[in-house]
Amino acid sequence: MTSASTKRLGDFLDASPTAFHAVDSMAALLEARGGRRLDEGSAWELEPGALHFVVRGGSSLIAFRPGLLPPQETGFALAGAHTDSPALKARIEKPLSGKGLERAAVEVYGSPILSTWMDRPLALAGRVALRGVADPRRAEDQQAGDRRIEYRLLNLSRPVGVVPNLAIHLNRDVNKGFELNAQTHLPVLVAAGLETPEGAADKGGSAGDEGGSAAASWILRLVARELGVEPEAVLGADLFFVDAQRSVVFGEEGELINAYRLDDLLGCHAILEAFVDAVPARHGQVAVFLDNEEIGSRTARGADSSFLRDILGRICALQGCGTEDFYRALARSFSVSVDVAQAWHPSYAEKFDESYAPLLGGGPALKANANFRYATDAEAEAAFRLLCADAGVGCQKYMSRADIAPGSTIGPMTSAHTGIATVDIGAPLLSMHSARETASLRDHELMTTVLAAHFRSGPRR
Ligand code: CO
Repeated sequence: MTSASTKRLGDFLDASPTAFHAVDSMAALLEARGGRRLDEGSAWELEPGALHFVVRGGSSLIAFRPGLLPPQETGFALAGAHTDSPALKARIEKPLSGKGLERAAVEVYGSPILSTWMDRPLALAGRVALRGVADPRRAEDQQAGDRRIEYRLLNLSRPVGVVPNLAIHLNRDVNKGFELNAQTHLPVLVAAGLETPEGAADKGGSAGDEGGSAAASWILRLVARELGVEPEAVLGADLFFVDAQRSVVFGEEGELINAYRLDDLLGCHAILEAFVDAVPARHGQVAVFLDNEEIGSRTARGADSSFLRDILGRICALQGCGTEDFYRALARSFSVSVDVAQAWHPSYAEKFDESYAPLLGGGPALKANANFRYATDAEAEAAFRLLCADAGVGCQKYMSRADIAPGSTIGPMTSAHTGIATVDIGAPLLSMHSARETASLRDHELMTTVLAAHFRSGPRR
């Protein structure tokens, strides 16, 4: 990769500690490239070939260029990835305090390798819902009055806490394996030496409570101070403790990258770069970025929702399609689901089928599974192999050991909801779901190249 493209990836990773920030980063780039933001609650007007995008729930985004020809004649070229990653979701209202220490309780989001979260400087980031202050100049504010809600993104990129391990002297067997309990072991230490009287914590004081600022948790007060509001103005929050360290590049020629959330910001970034640089085509081009893959996708904005089908339906309707035309458009479409693949790990060779273990630096991996944990079938595999040949990109194949069930992706769900033929692919990745994962920049570049060819050439149907 060129140093400029490596820097763009690093900047995207560092600016996107949560799905909300990833969507915000992508929306900013799309707007900078002339993209028109559409609101699902408003009437749309679409221009063939122009860049449009829609955000649902603040953390899922679908961008598209309507094709220059009717969708039922050309179909859509789609590519999708997920915006979320495992994290520790903060329970910000109630402090866990005692003996002058204050901790923030958490819930585990997705399936992180928990040991990698220990003793690591953690930042706090996410979305906060605030009681809106009515602007006297805006008529809609006057109508909504005190019921107006304002959403703000928060990214305290500096460390604010740590989950401390127990000293080895008090657990001599820790290196034989230790099960971390989310309720008792994972609360994040955020302050020490507090003079707050014991028991103040029990008085509560939080979003919607009567407790007042003094009794609010340290984290809630920090969030309020950072946003310039009183703690009582915080009505709700989707905040996560996340790795505070930036991405780093290493290797003999700077060919490797180590960062939080490579799963699946690598996929998002490859699709985004290929999509914004694509030129309008006869077929529609659709870039899909969905939240909540790590917890099964069954949310209003996840892959197991109406979101993608809703947007495709609206594009078709606004391009003059009738009901039958819509189904014809879906049948002519092709989708590439991009998520990371398990790279062969030399220390754990026995965990892989050596014949189907993708290597770091070996290029995109095509992922297949007999039980459709990945959407790939022979038709989709063939289409992708031809696409790789067109793009001059080699392709590896990943299948898990026959006695190990692999992970899954958004591919099987978006495919099931739309009927669109879909291939699952991904860049090889080490340490999936660690707080720090490792991938090859060369694979990322090749992934972007093959996705650019996909948006250019369109569905082969
Ligand atoms: Co993933």
